[in-house]
Amino acid sequence: MSLPPRPKLGDSLPAANPSQETLDLLALRRSTPNALITEPGPDGAQIQDLLVIGARISDHRRIVPFRFVVLAGAARADFGEKLAAIFAEQNPQADEAAIENERQRFARIPVTIAVISAPDKNHKTPLWEQHLTAGAVCQNILIAANAMGFAAQWISEWIAYDDAAMKCLGLGAEEKLAGFILLGSAKEPPKERPRIEAQEITQYWRG
Ligand SMILES: Cc1cc2nc3c(=O)[nH]c(=O)nc-3n(C[C@H](O)[C@H](O)[C@H](O)COP(=O)(O)O)c2cc1C
Repeated sequence: MSLPPRPKLGDSLPAANPSQETLDLLALRRSTPNALITEPGPDGAQIQDLLVIGARISDHRRIVPFRFVVLAGAARADFGEKLAAIFAEQNPQADEAAIENERQRFARIPVTIAVISAPDKNHKTPLWEQHLTAGAVCQNILIAANAMGFAAQWISEWIAYDDAAMKCLGLGAEEKLAGFILLGSAKEPPKERPRIEAQEITQYWRG
């Protein structure tokens, strides 16, 4: 599975792209709970393709208010050690199993792409829209990963809201973690979960 050649500036692109496969993918899309994610994950070229698709997102005024940090290979265990130390320091009552859970959180996942919302707070584009763009990046990667044949889950956990953990990942003061996108293969197929009926949350405006 590969991406088509990158369009050149000014190329005509399909305004619509009828695809039953895409509709099937979206209608049956399901995250794989991280406990069920195992090897293999995407290789280097596949990670690159996922980043290209992630970056190909709607972005008001093209300000690219996001960036990526990839956790792959040996870096996963290194990050796990640091995360476990932060967790242990902040949770002195935590037992060894809980600390080990943090140590392994990313180490046991083949590849994780951290999508970072990196807004420009002085830009004309509202901050809210800049954060939304970063969220859309996450969903694009999630869908593309499924289409490439990988299981995936979008998580944040305590980590996204912990200053020390975010600093360790390399975030600046104005940045936020939009999501960790965990990537690998499913040990078993995820089961359907309860879903809202769209009509329950939809009104046609009548004034
Ligand atoms: C911004 C965001 C953060 C999330 N954080 C977590 C998380 O920390 N842990 C978790 O188990 N699920 C988290 N989820 C939910 C999962 O990604 C996933 O949506 C959920 O398991 C339901 O599966 P589904 O995507 O098939 O509906 C998060 C989702 C979003 C959009």
